[in-house]
Amino acid sequence: MGKILVTGGTGFIGSHTVVELINAGYEVVLVDDFSNSNPKILTQLETITGKKPDFTELDLCDERKVAEFVAAHPDITGVIHFAAFKAVGESVRFPLKYYRNNFYSLINLINAFNSNIGLVFSSSCTVYGQPDQLPVTEDAAVKRAESPYGNTKQIAEEILTDTCAVTPDLRVISLRYFNPVGAHESALIGELPIGVPQNLVPFITQSAIGKRGPITVFGSDYNTPDGSAVRDYIHVVDLAKAHVAAIQRLETKKAEGNYEVFNLGTGKGSSVLEIIQAFETSTGEKLNYTVGPRRDGDVEQVWGDVTKSAEGLGWKAELDVNEMMRSAWKWEKYLKDNPF
Ligand code: WQD
Repeated sequence: MGKILVTGGTGFIGSHTVVELINAGYEVVLVDDFSNSNPKILTQLETITGKKPDFTELDLCDERKVAEFVAAHPDITGVIHFAAFKAVGESVRFPLKYYRNNFYSLINLINAFNSNIGLVFSSSCTVYGQPDQLPVTEDAAVKRAESPYGNTKQIAEEILTDTCAVTPDLRVISLRYFNPVGAHESALIGELPIGVPQNLVPFITQSAIGKRGPITVFGSDYNTPDGSAVRDYIHVVDLAKAHVAAIQRLETKKAEGNYEVFNLGTGKGSSVLEIIQAFETSTGEKLNYTVGPRRDGDVEQVWGDVTKSAEGLGWKAELDVNEMMRSAWKWEKYLKDNPF
């Protein structure tokens, strides 16, 4: 088994992936700058896995420090690169902050490994915009992103495609996430939004626990069965397991070429109102919500075709929306009694 570097390893998806890598027998090295995560996650990971994480606080935008770190870890056999800014709204207000951070970190990482590494890249379904056809497949047109955040994902994929085209020793798998939600069954790790949650599910759980007021449903006049927007919500633990499968694919070098893309979703769409209903049914908690105007930049409906992921990664999401809601609620209740 190899030693995998997880950048952004104390973040929401990073931390869950660390657990699944260790469960699969890998040694893991974590780096993070805590710009969007909490150091306490390291203690939580040790409690869950029984292993003290090998962690280094590192700013991936510092080219010299990244090169020094990689030189000091010659036994790293693969990388999963999560570390990036990811708040859609913030990216509109501070585009240069997003372009600098998300590209400097990626380029420094590839250079530090002399482009000779297997790398799993955290991408997003945002690159599809509003697809012309649903479910959306990996070869669908990539549309002009609605936000600088989404644009950083699109351009990062182009950086990787162009570099892989002239660097056979760089093997990359880009994973396009749909909507990651939920938390580890232990409720010791989960989503830790800073300030008012922008995403639906953390807002729901904070509203249910009394930390926020009623939920605003952003739009009920979409051309969808109940008028609210549709997304492909995927349990973060299923998402984490897909990253292990991607590392295994890179190791077996079964890839067709040295750059591949896979959708990570369930292949099923759920509307905002269906998610609210699923939360109430699966937790027994009553939610208060109002219907407001559409949110700028939102697409109407998107869900993924996951055929290629099933065939190429030998992976399929297993946890349903009810388990997503139950685990998210269990995590929110844990946070109330154990504030970070
Ligand atoms: C989901 C739906 C909202 C809050 C974004 C990024 C994507 C990924 C996930 C990183 C939408 C509605 C939300 C609320 C609401 N991030 N909503 N009331 O925008 O689909 O995706 O986060 O990879 O890249 O783009 O997720 O959870 O913000 O919204 O009605 O208070 O819930 O309008 O229809 P989104 P979201």
